[in-house]
Amino acid sequence: MTLLSVNNLAVEFATDEGMLRAVDDVSFHINRGESLGLVGESGCGKSVTALGLTRLIPSPPGRISAGEVFFESRDLLRVEPPELREVRGNEISMIFQEPLSALSPLHRIGKQMVEGIGFHRRMPQKQAWQYALSWLQKVGIPDAPGRMHAYPFQLSGGMQQRVMIAMALMLSPKLIIADEPTTALDVTTQAQIFGLIREMKQNETALLLITHDMGVVWEMCDRVIVMYASRIVESAELSELFSRPVHPYTRGLLEAIPGLARGRTHLKDIPGQVPSPLRYPSGCRFRDRCPHAFERCRTEVPGLVECAAGHWAACFLAYPDAGEL
Ligand SMILES: Nc1ncnc2c1ncn2[C@@H]1O[C@H](COP(=O)(O)OP(=O)(O)O)[C@@H](O)[C@H]1O
Ligand code: SF4
Ligand SMILES: [Mg+2]
Repeated sequence: MTLLSVNNLAVEFATDEGMLRAVDDVSFHINRGESLGLVGESGCGKSVTALGLTRLIPSPPGRISAGEVFFESRDLLRVEPPELREVRGNEISMIFQEPLSALSPLHRIGKQMVEGIGFHRRMPQKQAWQYALSWLQKVGIPDAPGRMHAYPFQLSGGMQQRVMIAMALMLSPKLIIADEPTTALDVTTQAQIFGLIREMKQNETALLLITHDMGVVWEMCDRVIVMYASRIVESAELSELFSRPVHPYTRGLLEAIPGLARGRTHLKDIPGQVPSPLRYPSGCRFRDRCPHAFERCRTEVPGLVECAAGHWAACFLAYPDAGEL
């Protein structure tokens, strides 16, 4: 059953050089308990998509210029602020790249966590303290009882990240949105955090996992969306996407994973760079970097087509009249 449904989302930023469309006509859904990966290189619009659907776009300079975001039956882009706050804290938890954005600098860790619990679950203070402490231990914070009394600035970046993850997971949300959640953490802690998120899946918690790391997607996700230059260019079930990628951009991302391509020992990069949203080329936005580009790619925009059941791609080569890649 569908939990979240994003329809035709568009987000723009006003800049000195003009209006920049960071998210352009993005539509996707997440089912209850499903883990969806959102991948693409830096600057493709992944974080802005996450901020847009939770209405956290800094405004100005940003604004949501189109779209609907249904979470269960409510359109989050249209509910009143108190209802939105309730949904954000209680039913959707967010883990960002920057932990300090989620922690108050003025309050000790324990107090912040207990307040978070008290606000959403009516739990006696003492019990809430124990519950918060148990979550600090779960995310691998050493001397957790002592750390409950620390201020965020007294913790290292990796430790702050773990506190934020504990705060996001402890309320058993229906959806976790995690934007590069473990980038600041070492490999062992990363595995521990992903283990916890996987456990939560058993309680029907859904996950939107944003990452540039295809290896993490392979470990964690059921289905994958690939974004390039503000748009979705491909989406499919995990094994379908990894075994039969259609879009040349997805193929490039997969080839860049060490160890996945047979017989290759070095990392192959996709040549060129993601263009600025202020300077997207006409037609297919990937055409400057695409080894298969042809005339049509310059003049026409490829829309998403279903090339196999549940497998969508926005490339002329995926069109039914295109023949073999
Ligand atoms: N506050 C902002 N003001 C102006 N442009 C922004 C702002 N935030 C993001 N952008 C632009 O939006 C585009 C998408 O950014 P982002 O979603 O952060 O990419 P990703 O998360 O995929 O790396 C980028 O071109 C970025 O420069
Ligand atoms: S539409 Fe053309 S340029 Fe774009 S990815 Fe497909 S072949 Fe390459
Ligand atoms: Mg980002």
